Amino acid sequence: MLPGIKRKWWKEAVVYQIYPRSFMDSNGDGIGDLRGIISKLDYVHSIGVDVIWLCPVYKSPNCDNGYDISDYRNIMDEFGDINDMKELIAGAHKKGIKLIMDLVANHTSDEHEWFIESRKSKDNPFRDYYIWKPAKDGKEPNNWMAFFGGKAWKYDETTGEYYLHLFADKQPDLNWENEKVRKSIYDLMNWWFEIGIDGFRMDVINMISKMPGMPNADNFLEQLSYVINGPRFHEYMQEMNREVLSRYDCMTVGECLGTTGDEVIKTVGEDRNELNMIFRMEHVCLDMDLMAGNMKKIDWKLSDFKKIFLEKDQLLDGIGWNSQFLMNHDQPRALSRFADDKEYRVESAKMLATFLLTLRGTPYIYQGEEIGMTNVAFDSIDDYRDISTFNTYNSELSNGVTSEEMLERIHSFSRDNSRTPMQWDESENAGFTKGTPWIKVNQNYKEINVAQAESDKGSIYHYYRDMIKLRKDNLVLVYGGFELLAEEDERVFAYLRGDGEEKFLVVLNFSKDETRFLWTGGESYKFQQLVISNYADRSLDTICDINLRPYEAKVYKLFN
Ligand code: GLC
Ligand code: CA
Repeated sequence: MLPGIKRKWWKEAVVYQIYPRSFMDSNGDGIGDLRGIISKLDYVHSIGVDVIWLCPVYKSPNCDNGYDISDYRNIMDEFGDINDMKELIAGAHKKGIKLIMDLVANHTSDEHEWFIESRKSKDNPFRDYYIWKPAKDGKEPNNWMAFFGGKAWKYDETTGEYYLHLFADKQPDLNWENEKVRKSIYDLMNWWFEIGIDGFRMDVINMISKMPGMPNADNFLEQLSYVINGPRFHEYMQEMNREVLSRYDCMTVGECLGTTGDEVIKTVGEDRNELNMIFRMEHVCLDMDLMAGNMKKIDWKLSDFKKIFLEKDQLLDGIGWNSQFLMNHDQPRALSRFADDKEYRVESAKMLATFLLTLRGTPYIYQGEEIGMTNVAFDSIDDYRDISTFNTYNSELSNGVTSEEMLERIHSFSRDNSRTPMQWDESENAGFTKGTPWIKVNQNYKEINVAQAESDKGSIYHYYRDMIKLRKDNLVLVYGGFELLAEEDERVFAYLRGDGEEKFLVVLNFSKDETRFLWTGGESYKFQQLVISNYADRSLDTICDINLRPYEAKVYKLFN
């Protein structure tokens, strides 16, 4: 093991992300809920995961599916109540599964009592909980734009000032410079730890400290630089660590769009006392210009994709820990995006599983990824539910883009691609609900569902189980070094994992072409053992010359 890197349960864990609204509906109102999740804990356990990351379940008017919280100490009515939550935590713990919640602390809902008070008058005790500014030359205080489209400031008539909202206007940004705000957040975090949770995924956490003076920005990238990693960010994280995190044996992962280089090290360095891990977004920005905000597809190259993973790994080598994910509730389905969701759906989903589970860093699986769920393509914009999809659609239409073109882009990139209901079986609505689902089910549920996956030994689901077991049985796949091979190959992603004596070779064909991986480095090994692959019949290779069929994945153990 590397010096400087300590063994920790959260480094050895595999995480399963649940989007409650779309996971399982227990009472027929068409909306997934906590009792639905409880009823599926056996299934989650069967995959072999150790941690559940639960997307927000707090009380919320739902303008952004729970990322707009009106009460941090209560559960959204549609999802259940605090007793259901306690039962879920206990049920998971009984199976040896930990549970982390989503902490949304950059902003609240405008229906949170803090904001209701704050907007009442300029001298209200909660005024400074949010970021209020007077007009500048009769207009917004600066030219910042919201991530979900439109201006980042909203005028409030009661007091004649503007408040900042980096996301929807129903999501006012909290003012972290106010000590009382920080204290309130730490209190509620402690409250949840006392209830029994095991950690937090922290929503857009690198945005809590803004550039003083909030200068105008010429473009979105420049604006991003003013809202992330502000001058007090690390001070706040260390304070949070002191006041909350250090008191528990917990796990933390911060969502950190745009955080690179030194800032990564400062946030997750082992000696920094801030966060355990962050989510970096470079690989999910490769095929779409996130900053342009128009959902337009751009070409991506495997060699660039590889370099992102290499840079990420090297940056923290021996000093901190990475997270690894291919998708989440904000991203399209990884299978549809990076591989092939048609002819080679099964092979390529298994190939991606091999990839995710042999990287150094804690792997995060998103619900449905383990059965090879795919993007959805609704014919009408009316079938979509996501606020950012609507906002992008409308703003691009006003830029002159046709609705056909926009629907095509939405088919590739809408966040709703990953939010269609979990496909449990081939009964109506995929077994997700007995009522009308809040968002339509993907029509391919008759072929792609959990019941089918469980009964078929060759399914993607069984392959995930095998891969997780392989990772668990070989600590070197968790902690061992990562060495990229054939950096410029545009079809094959190959790398070594391990240190000294113990080594694994991972070879992945990211293309639908047959190809070969030639590796002279193999000459220094006496023999190799193929420990897993995603094709049933195994081709005969030498370690220096490996044949690969479409999306074939092979993992070898090497012996010298
Ligand atoms: C994060 C969440 C996303 C949400 C946004 C605003 O990016 O993952 O779902 O819309 O923050 O809270
Ligand atoms: Ca329900």
